[in-house]
Amino acid sequence: MMARIALFLSLILIPVALNAAQGVPLPKGYPSWQKSPRKVVTDKSSLFYGIHYIYADKKAAQGYKAGNRFSEGSTIIVEHFNIKEGNSTVDGSKNMVVMMRKDKRQKQTGGWLFAGFGADGRPSGLDPLSTCFGCHQKDAAQRDFVISTIKDFN
Ligand code: HEC
Repeated sequence: MMARIALFLSLILIPVALNAAQGVPLPKGYPSWQKSPRKVVTDKSSLFYGIHYIYADKKAAQGYKAGNRFSEGSTIIVEHFNIKEGNSTVDGSKNMVVMMRKDKRQKQTGGWLFAGFGADGRPSGLDPLSTCFGCHQKDAAQRDFVISTIKDFN
């Protein structure tokens, strides 16, 4: 009987665990997290051309304060907006959202889950290893793969 229950549970729980790594939803409450000032990149040759804001949950905010040492579960989100032609003082339409969550199961990407979302908040299905990790590894391997620092929140 116990063996059957264990088999039953593993059939349910294994797919749930796999799915969690790929299709994690955006946390609903992030607009109330600690938020960076508005960041505007007007250089059109930059991948970051546009306007963005960084959000840190409580654990991530502590991690930034500790000099980029983040505990398990720390979550950081960036919202990107387009620049309205000729006017960078107001945000244009939202173009994407990206998330990093400290998750020790994600061994290939430095112990962080990387996830991309469209403007509607739906997962965009970008591959974390080939699409995200390169830059973060290159620019921030000494800072736990997080490129921004506490200074970005001042
Ligand atoms: C072209 C290089 C590049 C790629 C590719 C990239 N990022 Fe980043 N990412 C950056 C830079 C630079 C910052 C810092 C922005 C700032 O300081 O305002 C950043 C910041 C972030 C942050 C805020 C925490 C931090 O590290 O500062 C998150 C979350 C994030 N990126 C997630 C992602 C995800 C998810 C992907 C893949 C879909 C991705 N990034 C792909 C360069 C990149």
